[in-house]
Amino acid sequence: MTDWLARWQNNKIGWHADTVNRSLVDYFELLELASGASVFVPLCGKSIDMIYLSEMGFSVIGVELSSVGVEQFFVGNGLQYSVSEIDEFVLYRSDRIKIYCGDYFKLTAKHLLSVSAVYDRASLIALDLKLREKYAQHLAAIIPRDVRILLLTLIYPQHQMSGPPFSVSNSEVESLFSSAFKYRQLHCFNDIDNEPKFLRAGVDCVENAAYLLQKGRE
Ligand SMILES: C[S@@+](CC[C@H](N)C(=O)[O-])C[C@H]1O[C@@H](n2cnc3c(N)ncnc32)[C@H](O)[C@@H]1O
Repeated sequence: MTDWLARWQNNKIGWHADTVNRSLVDYFELLELASGASVFVPLCGKSIDMIYLSEMGFSVIGVELSSVGVEQFFVGNGLQYSVSEIDEFVLYRSDRIKIYCGDYFKLTAKHLLSVSAVYDRASLIALDLKLREKYAQHLAAIIPRDVRILLLTLIYPQHQMSGPPFSVSNSEVESLFSSAFKYRQLHCFNDIDNEPKFLRAGVDCVENAAYLLQKGRE
């Protein structure tokens, strides 16, 4: 199992991106967010996509295991923040962004009552198969009905590189989410030329996929 806390301690955070994710920019309107709506970012790290969402006028609720990551997020982005304890978490909060520092699997529906959408980049694919099943079931259990999810995944020959990030196929997304969510694929294209880590590892092809999910079957 990945030792995330050690990765943060040792600054081995190759997943972190310095620019806002292109798919978030392209697709966030599909989330149909009202002004001021609240977006949940599971396994948020110190993603600057949270800054993008807050600058668009939305509230952000993140959850992240590592206090190093959470502190780097607030300090690195020059945000004033307060720290308190709530349930099994340390809650860091600034004006529009709050991050629960602790285990995603300990979040409950009461922490996410206000949420209208979920943004998942490098979260589901950070987890091995067993945890992905648990992650999807837990997400379905804690977010309100009708919430939309923008889910970004990668698909590549898993035998050519070990994760994380793990390859998550279209059929796995369907089997993880289709019992509780409506879903549709937004895109899926080979992006190997923009994935130097995969190129170095000798991976032939990396598909970059995006999905729009919505909780509730009817
Ligand atoms: C691959 S990183 C992606 C971070 C972020 N989504 C991004 O796009 O930069 C996965 C993050 O999940 C965090 N994490 C892993 N397991 C977790 C858990 N059970 N609860 C909360 N955070 C977790 C790790 O510490 C790490 O920061």
